[in-house]
Amino acid sequence: MDIKEEIDDIKGYEEIKERLEDFFKALTKYEEMAEQLKKTKLSPNLTVLLYGPPGTGKTSLTRAFSKKYNIPMCIVESNRLVSPLLGDTIKNIRNVIELSAEIAKENGAFILFFDEIDAIGSERSNIHEVGEIKRAVISFLQVIDRINYEGLPLAILGATNHQHQLDSAIWRRFTFHLKFDFPDYELRKKIIESFVKKIENADIGIDNKIQESLEKEYKKIREIHKNLESKLNRKISEFDNTLLWNEVEKKGTIKGLIQLTIGYSGSDIERGTRVALFKVIHTGLLTYDLFFNSLNLVGGTASHVERQDIVSSMKTFENNQKKNNSNKRKSSGPPEI
Ligand SMILES: Nc1ncnc2c1ncn2[C@@H]1O[C@H](COP(=O)(O)OP(=O)(O)OP(=O)(O)O)[C@@H](O)[C@H]1O
Ligand SMILES: [Mg+2]
Repeated sequence: MDIKEEIDDIKGYEEIKERLEDFFKALTKYEEMAEQLKKTKLSPNLTVLLYGPPGTGKTSLTRAFSKKYNIPMCIVESNRLVSPLLGDTIKNIRNVIELSAEIAKENGAFILFFDEIDAIGSERSNIHEVGEIKRAVISFLQVIDRINYEGLPLAILGATNHQHQLDSAIWRRFTFHLKFDFPDYELRKKIIESFVKKIENADIGIDNKIQESLEKEYKKIREIHKNLESKLNRKISEFDNTLLWNEVEKKGTIKGLIQLTIGYSGSDIERGTRVALFKVIHTGLLTYDLFFNSLNLVGGTASHVERQDIVSSMKTFENNQKKNNSNKRKSSGPPEI
């Protein structure tokens, strides 16, 4: 399969990228590493669990690393292994891991990526019989343990949006736990800019106002954030509670692209950009208003998943905005910053 993602396309996650660098480097020097670890009597256990909300880059980043290090990867949609027929789920899990182990034995490093691994290892799975879930989990654990024991260059990666529902025994089997989350305002700015750049690189016109207002809005939020932190004498996150957005509102800041996208994943921003592109194809110019309205139209994932912290940040700002706007003259389209 042709992988188009590059590591730099996924913005942010510096720490996660560092861990993955280490992991993939170790995988390319597997023999050496296994030899070293043998002396310590530790098994290599090449396992990584990536968890966090949908659309935050778990799959894309892994694919980008597999491309950079030229290590073949097979992505398994875990729910396709689950069968209502008694015993079949276990058979499917064993078959896919054993086949991958064969490949690793013959061709060297290989990655098996279980997407939505909670389909195998949680109550959410669509195996109806409880005993069958338990047996599937146990079987999965046994195969992982055996792979580790045999010392094959087979890396097992798993991704989930439902980490709380994942069986704790499965959770424990993974050496690395990498947490992805909704991007904060700094990262959202970078992601928005990266999509604007992609459009620009495709020789499509970009309204200067987009970059200008992004900078202006970012500077303003950052200043308010810093002042608030020094006033409270502690670090605060944009999502801790509604502190930051209350303060932003108090200063009379008007909602721009960064505030609009509270609770958006990178994938939501990508979707909004795509919606805008459908129009831009005909007009040849991405205007600020079109971009704002398209992002507004797609909405953010946090409002669909149970992230009360982010949703309440979002709501506070929106409610305050509504109150403010009702006192002002109505204007058409998105307001300027
Ligand atoms: N930090 C980011 N920087 C740039 N683009 C991002 C970022 N996060 C997500 N995206 C965009 O969103 C797309 C989808 O992300 P991806 O499919 O990797 O998410 P995921 O976490 O695997 O989601 P799911 O849990 O639903 O499988 C990426 O291809 C990328 O275009
Ligand atoms: Mg994914």
